[in-house]
Amino acid sequence: MSLPRRSFLRHAALGAAGLGLARGAEALPEFAAEQPEPFWEAVRALYPLEAGFSYFNTGGLGSTPTPVLERVAEVTRRLQAKAEHGHAQFTAARADVARFLGADPAEVAFVRNATEANATVAAGLPLRAGDEVIFETHAHPGGSFAWLQAARVRGVVVRTFEPDARSAAVNLERVAALCGPRTRVVQLSHITAPTGITLPARAVADLCRSRGIWFHLDAAQSAGMVPVDFAALGCDSLAVSGHKWIGGPLETGVLCVRRARQEELAPPLVGAYSGDLDANGRFALNAGAVRYEYGTRNVAAALGLAEAMRLQERIGRDRIAVRGRQLAARAHAGLAALPGVEVLSPDAPDLRAAMVTFRAARIPHDRLFGLLLREKSIRARPVTEEKLNALRVSTHLCNSPAQVDALVAAVGEFLRREA
Ligand SMILES: Cc1ncc(COP(=O)(O)O)c(C=O)c1O
Repeated sequence: MSLPRRSFLRHAALGAAGLGLARGAEALPEFAAEQPEPFWEAVRALYPLEAGFSYFNTGGLGSTPTPVLERVAEVTRRLQAKAEHGHAQFTAARADVARFLGADPAEVAFVRNATEANATVAAGLPLRAGDEVIFETHAHPGGSFAWLQAARVRGVVVRTFEPDARSAAVNLERVAALCGPRTRVVQLSHITAPTGITLPARAVADLCRSRGIWFHLDAAQSAGMVPVDFAALGCDSLAVSGHKWIGGPLETGVLCVRRARQEELAPPLVGAYSGDLDANGRFALNAGAVRYEYGTRNVAAALGLAEAMRLQERIGRDRIAVRGRQLAARAHAGLAALPGVEVLSPDAPDLRAAMVTFRAARIPHDRLFGLLLREKSIRARPVTEEKLNALRVSTHLCNSPAQVDALVAAVGEFLRREA
């Protein structure tokens, strides 16, 4: 067992409230640029993943670091001692989340996942039959299906563009080319799920703002992989998944809505937390994005999400982004060098992410997925979207260069064996 893991476990074993993140993160050594691996090994030791198991599916579901799990358990136990819901503590969690996402606390709503954030925007904007929404063909069902439902039941017209894996300018042009007099909404995945293309969010935000179009950014794959700043991105609304790259507890997500536009986005679901009755008994929404929250929620999960964000801040958010990309670049180069492997993810530095999607001509993707898992304990993710029939590898803090090399070696071995 590595030293940092042993020292973390000792602290965790003390079990007292408050030792979770603080002690786990304090056990991290100083980051040394010339010899960074001990630092990254200590970070990796914060994850509860089994030894010998290489988890490359953070883009599907992130592994939650042990200090975050400890925090959720500790808050849950404390509240349950008096069966309190602890709702007042959302205020502290909201402040942490707002800082992490570059938003005002009044722009932050806690939701269950990125899907709920996306669906809130699709259901809440006042669109009429014939109004148009634009998004990319690679949008995840958690981003696209709410619009397809709006098309079914409200007559909203969906227009899609194929994202280009080589040029941000081309992607901007493709969005611009679809914008017309009836365009009301543009939605982009900040980083696309199937192949990890970074789309030009800021440029599209400027385009939309100049035309009065609502711009919604789905940051499910970017928040926690790279720094995401709501104000700097210039979007009107932002969907965040807490349980992927951020490492928050399962079933956490955030919807940010720009203050100046909150009156335009009606909450599709309302309840005790969305508003109140005035003196005349009329229902009025609360000020701020809290209006998009409704019934009783699990505050331990929200505090766990805030804890996960603080842990990323302790590690260093730019450092995390660089690390993920370095590991992905290593996987990309290794896989691309194997005969018969095609890498579908972008090459261009400004489009790349910490994900690599590839396919092997001679081995069907589902077979390769099974071989990696069964024989090598390597968990990738099958990509069936757009009939790509590929595998996606997400590289994050729970991964090491040695794991990436083992993945590449395993794919090479299977290719030779199955030839
Ligand atoms: C771009 C994108 N949007 C939305 C989702 C759905 O995320 P969640 O699990 O938080 O609903 C995903 C999940 O992979 C995604 O990749």
